[in-house]
Amino acid sequence: HKVILLSRHGESENNFSGKIGGDTNLSPRGRAYAAALASYINSLNIQCPVEVWTSGLKRTIATAAGVKCNQRKAMKELNELHAGCCEGMSYEEIQSEYPQEFAMRDQNKLTYKYPNGESYEDVLARVGPVIGNIEESILERRRDDDEEKVLLIVSHQAVLRCFLSHFLDIAESELPYIEVPLHTVIWLIQDEDTGKWSVSYVRL
Ligand code: F6P
Repeated sequence: HKVILLSRHGESENNFSGKIGGDTNLSPRGRAYAAALASYINSLNIQCPVEVWTSGLKRTIATAAGVKCNQRKAMKELNELHAGCCEGMSYEEIQSEYPQEFAMRDQNKLTYKYPNGESYEDVLARVGPVIGNIEESILERRRDDDEEKVLLIVSHQAVLRCFLSHFLDIAESELPYIEVPLHTVIWLIQDEDTGKWSVSYVRL
């Protein structure tokens, strides 16, 4: 089987105070998740090489820090959807300061672009090549009969929605609403015969 493990970062200070975006540190609960994630993954005793990819933001790097691995990459392509002028605000604050923007996002969450920020389509465009690399390396391994690898990706809600929509064939119209709970490891496992990916969730 081919295995990809996905996780959001542990609760950040901004998550705790209901604010979006930013580059804040983990909250105490978030740090507890980082410790739980490390002991969970390390105790799986994975026999093949483990690669850990995070975003470039502090909260994902800190979440993955204790996971033992053979290779570690921080990639800004895996950063959270940038909310432009709304970074660091709560949804309530956005609704009262930018009511039109708030309504427009509600009407079309997939294409809506925050002023000076990104849309889900923008995130798809930068995450697509990362997904392409993963799929190429899976195909190459199959050709070379090379050693398998387990990949752990620690990223953010909007980015992980893109991964889940791709691997689980979820329509783009539903993508911005896919549930990605905090403090949960998402297992994607590929069936060798059909190539289809299945998903399961382990809440830590
Ligand atoms: O609230 C956490 C968060 O990751 C924000 O940083 C980000 O703007 C948001 O989720 C994305 O989710 P949604 O598109 O549902 O607002």
